Amino acid sequence: MSTSSNPLRIAVSGATGLVGSALCPLLSQQGHDVLAIRRDDRGSYDESIRWDPGSGLTNPARLESIDAIVHLAGQNIAAGRWNDAMKRRIRSSRVDGTRSLVESMAVVEKRPQVLVCASAIGFYGDRGAMEMEESSAAGSDFLADVCEQWEAEANAATELGVRVVNVRIGVVLSPKGGALAKMLPPFKLGLGGIVGPGTQYWSWIGLNDLTRILAFCVANEAVSGPVNAVSPESSTNREFTKTLGHVLHRPTMIPLPGFFAKLMLGEMATTLLLASTRVLPKQLQAHGFEFEQPGLADCLQHELDGS
Ligand SMILES: NC(=O)c1ccc[n+]([C@@H]2O[C@H](COP(=O)([O-])OP(=O)(O)OC[C@H]3O[C@@H](n4cnc5c(N)ncnc54)[C@H](OP(=O)(O)O)[C@@H]3O)[C@@H](O)[C@H]2O)c1
Repeated sequence: MSTSSNPLRIAVSGATGLVGSALCPLLSQQGHDVLAIRRDDRGSYDESIRWDPGSGLTNPARLESIDAIVHLAGQNIAAGRWNDAMKRRIRSSRVDGTRSLVESMAVVEKRPQVLVCASAIGFYGDRGAMEMEESSAAGSDFLADVCEQWEAEANAATELGVRVVNVRIGVVLSPKGGALAKMLPPFKLGLGGIVGPGTQYWSWIGLNDLTRILAFCVANEAVSGPVNAVSPESSTNREFTKTLGHVLHRPTMIPLPGFFAKLMLGEMATTLLLASTRVLPKQLQAHGFEFEQPGLADCLQHELDGS
């Protein structure tokens, strides 16, 4: 295994988001020099590279001093109902954004050696209890289509001699944002319960292990192509509900019927809450990645204790 242990200069897009704001401090702790690729002046990293996801970097020459890019930027998919305008933003912020980033990489002579680009297990779509590996075919719904296009745009960087890793991220567990943060208020009040049938698989990853996976993909020169960023132990929604209730010491007797979830959230409920995707982290295991919180109860406890 070839692992770069030298300090690198790493640029991170989406650095102000849930994942980016945990990843940047980890990379800094590991001794790397971290810069944000950002759309505006927010955030705590002094030095940053400006970009417009529609047209690329304001000054692509800034990339000449960068060793690695971690590209996390994209319209939050749970920020509102999936009407046509929202779906356009979800797709364009990822597909056009990644294309413009790669185009900016194409115009410089000295390029970053690696592009670690976010993708999602939404790539696989709704697949019941079938186990999905990185070689499994894509699904056929909206999110699967977005992920396929997103990965294709990132993969264009391989033609520039850049190592590309498509990190297919599972449901990220953190009380600071994403699915768990939305579930915590009702669960803490004892109003939690299964969603729909409860038999659907949720493939999750704790924020701590996800940031370690992203850093691993940057440093490990043997890693390329799709990488499933999920815990080795996916859970059904019923198991997830029971475990979260147990960790919070609360009952979980109040189910959310599937039709009601669809009424409230529309297509987003079908894809994010009711779809079943059972994903295995085959590539991470093949490359010797060690999860710190592979079990759901430990992971929830760890993330909640750290909040
Ligand atoms: N959280 C999850 O459960 C999960 C699961 C699967 C995949 N993912 C993927 O992992 C990546 C990071 O997730 P996250 O949870 O950290 O996301 P997040 O909290 O929504 O943050 C994404 C970041 O992207 C930038 N951004 C927001 N809207 C944008 C737009 N319209 N165009 C371009 N950039 C925009 C923002 O950063 P700036 O303001 O700094 O530009 C924002 O902080 C995303 O691509 C997401 O799809 C996440």
